[in-house]
Amino acid sequence: MSYGELRWSNIWNGPWVAVVLLVANIASAIPTISIKGSKFFTSDGDQFFIKGVVYAPSWQQENNNLVNGTQCEVDANLIKKLGANVIRVYSIDPSLNHDQCMQVFSDAGIYLMLDLATPTYQIDPNDPQWNTTLRDQFAKVIDNFQGYDNLFAFNAGDEVVTNTSTSDAAAYVKASIADMKAYRDAMQYRDIPIGYAAVDNSNIRTIQQDYFDCGKPAVGADFFAVNRFSWCESSSFTASGYQELYNEFDGYDIPTFLSQTGCSLAQSAPPNRTFDDQTAVLGQQMNDRFSGAVVYEWHQEETNYGLVSYDNADWTGMPSLFPDYTALSEQWATLTPDGVKKSAYQASGTKRSCPTSVSGTWNVKQNQALPTVGLSGVSTPTGARTQSGGGAASGTAAGSAEQGEGGGTGGQQKSSGFTGGAIAGIVLGALVGIALILGVILFFLKRKKGQQKDVAGADGPDHSREGDKMLATSADGNNHAYGYYGPQELAGLGQSQELDPSRGYIVPMKAPELAQPDYNHELSDHNTRMPQMEEVALNQHTQERGQEARQPEPSPHVQAQRRTEMDWLASEEARLRQRREVLMQQGGATE
Ligand SMILES: *[C@@H]1O[C@H](CO)[C@@H](O)[C@H](O)[C@H]1NC(C)=O
Repeated sequence: MSYGELRWSNIWNGPWVAVVLLVANIASAIPTISIKGSKFFTSDGDQFFIKGVVYAPSWQQENNNLVNGTQCEVDANLIKKLGANVIRVYSIDPSLNHDQCMQVFSDAGIYLMLDLATPTYQIDPNDPQWNTTLRDQFAKVIDNFQGYDNLFAFNAGDEVVTNTSTSDAAAYVKASIADMKAYRDAMQYRDIPIGYAAVDNSNIRTIQQDYFDCGKPAVGADFFAVNRFSWCESSSFTASGYQELYNEFDGYDIPTFLSQTGCSLAQSAPPNRTFDDQTAVLGQQMNDRFSGAVVYEWHQEETNYGLVSYDNADWTGMPSLFPDYTALSEQWATLTPDGVKKSAYQASGTKRSCPTSVSGTWNVKQNQALPTVGLSGVSTPTGARTQSGGGAASGTAAGSAEQGEGGGTGGQQKSSGFTGGAIAGIVLGALVGIALILGVILFFLKRKKGQQKDVAGADGPDHSREGDKMLATSADGNNHAYGYYGPQELAGLGQSQELDPSRGYIVPMKAPELAQPDYNHELSDHNTRMPQMEEVALNQHTQERGQEARQPEPSPHVQAQRRTEMDWLASEEARLRQRREVLMQQGGATE
């Protein structure tokens, strides 16, 4: 029996193509990630631990992250060799196409943690608002990335509250989480985790940990992560304050991890870090409560936290690898926690109570209503929820139309894989094809060998199991609460307020020549650099002494953002001054 015998009819090509597509899809599919209790799990049922790296140069901001597919492929291969399974990107431009980058990262087995805010549209800690403009912008980011199976999580805010004087902003961030979770569910997207990454400030760390978790599950963060830069050089579990941090998560009911880490005391490149903290986070000391860590950062910038360095200002081509890259890969290679299987895991955490306000420290009142805006004006799909990760494309388009996007390309579904319908079609096609092919084989065998009826039939069950597996994977059940807002949560304080984009942190792409030579100097003003022995001695006195060894709060990333904005404001000031002088010189204008 040869393929030649099947050539007599072209109708056989369809099923064969379906079989090839099915096999290719199984080979390339990456399991999706969801939450059960305080842990992340893959759709294969394995616990998921994050070995992540920040992959977004601060000065590039949203302009071109994840749009250069060629460069993504170069980097994805190196990030895979590093041993990472997550990249964290601070912002993207939802009007651009990210298909190629997402595909090469998926092929490398790497997931994306993506922040919803962009430099233009974010909650300003000093003048916090949450309104339909911001909601629709956040929704656009969700629309554009929810269809990628390797989209691991959305982050609704990074260190929005950085200190006690900006604690009011927490209510707005939590409102954004509540609305975006409602949006995700109403759009029938899969259960993509939506959480928050908090600043490491001991005055408000545990308060925020309680606040973002408390209340109804539908309004709380899906995960609460911490940016942490306290384990510098060869510190220890106790001296670094990691022990204290671990204790704080006793009985916590949602996942946590280090959303930025990798303390460096170096003022020049390469920083030569040893990443000893990874042994604690991913090892036995912490891995029953922590789901891994995201190391800051891939690209070498002014802050000197890079793992690699490019020889050009576009950050393209093959980078050179710092010793930090090798050190981190060696640490990670020894750290592969198994965790628990989803089926065996019993969630046992307890939801925290909402914190009471503390004068001068935490302004949000214990029963303060969230300033949610709800989903008014958003078109959502009607009918039964689809179970596939890539579905709901039509609903997405409707959402983008609501956002007044003209052609609507900004909100269009850009699925990296097959849609639910396509998968169903392929599976069906494959099953039909296999049945037909078996039929043909049987037919020829019968004709040629007469009596041997059962030979080809033996293959049947294996193929149908393959089909079952596909169906089972896409039918991973999710329970969603719709319209879960209590009357209090519906009070939309920010509803009528329109965002003035100029109030956002508009940070244009930063020209390399703008780099200030005194960045390191600025950093050192805040940073207490001590020899290791002194640190340990100090840290032994009190828990809070852990602060002494710490890098400045907020994190280096937020500091870099602020410096970039300061530079931009300075250049704007200069431009305005010049312009005014020109007008004055031209006459007719009086000051
Ligand atoms: C890191 O190590 C390299 C090679 O030994 C050295 O040239 C560089 O100065 C070190 N960096 C720091 C910050 O000490």
